[in-house]
Amino acid sequence: MKADTELGGVEIPAGSMLMVRFASANRDEAMFHCPEHFDIERENASDNLAFGQGVHFCLGAQLARKELNVAFEHLIQRTRNWRLTEGKNTLTHWPNLILRGLNDLHISFDKR
Ligand code: HEM
Repeated sequence: MKADTELGGVEIPAGSMLMVRFASANRDEAMFHCPEHFDIERENASDNLAFGQGVHFCLGAQLARKELNVAFEHLIQRTRNWRLTEGKNTLTHWPNLILRGLNDLHISFDKR
């Protein structure tokens, strides 16, 4: 931080080092109603920061979105009844300061 500032009621003195947490911002209750609730149809869903914001907005965002669209379209066409595989999931997270990912995720599904 180049100058003393205040963010969300917290004083930040000049010289402080800040770490931007995009994933945390996506769960900001001041921004998103019931942020823990997975709702892709929420009114302001497109305000999420998954791809960052501003001059460093992800250059691959359009490609990533297209790839995910194609992948999910085919998965949904060919499979049904997605569920967590019984007895296989620990639902534990790997230690990482930037991303909060599961150690593993076992999914079962049936062929359409
Ligand atoms: C789901 C997939 C992806 C996610 C969630 C993601 C997320 C992000 C985020 C949050 C940033 C901003 C980082 C910052 O502000 O410091 C970023 C930057 C960037 N991303 Fe992605 N990204 C994805 C896929 C891709 C792909 C497929 C490419 C390239 C083919 C790509 C290329 C880049 C580049 C070059 C930047 C740096 C942009 C800059 O600093 O000006 N990303 N990405």
